[in-house]
Amino acid sequence: MRHPVLTAASLLLLSHSLSAAGISESRRAELLGLLKHDCGSCHGLSLKGGLGPPLTPAKLQGKPVEFITATILYGRAGTPMPPWRPFLSDGEAAWLAGRIKEGVQ
Ligand code: HEC
Repeated sequence: MRHPVLTAASLLLLSHSLSAAGISESRRAELLGLLKHDCGSCHGLSLKGGLGPPLTPAKLQGKPVEFITATILYGRAGTPMPPWRPFLSDGEAAWLAGRIKEGVQ
């Protein structure tokens, strides 16, 4: 029989390492690295703008998370903003959109 305290502890660990979107802690770190380096190459290392517009909470106020998620997944045709669908799942893109809206720093 499993020890009840240990079981509770492992459940806690499990709920900590998996977010509501089911993204593991290590994948989240990868996604934040992608945001900084890949997205940052156009949007600026601190997302304050460059070739691409700033991705700061103030600038994205009024733009719904769903809209930002769709922009990340499908890109913007006719602009340098590329689609990230080959690299990100819907849930991962939505998670990143949430981080950007909150302000990642
Ligand atoms: C090759 C350059 C480039 C890269 C790399 C890039 N973007 Fe963009 N992004 C742009 C440009 C340019 C626009 C503006 C498109 C337009 O004119 O509507 C944009 C627009 C956006 C917008 C819409 C902003 C708004 O105010 O509506 C979001 C959100 C966004 N990018 C997120 C990302 C994320 C997240 C990544 C990384 C996963 C990323 N971008 C990588 C160039 C880039």
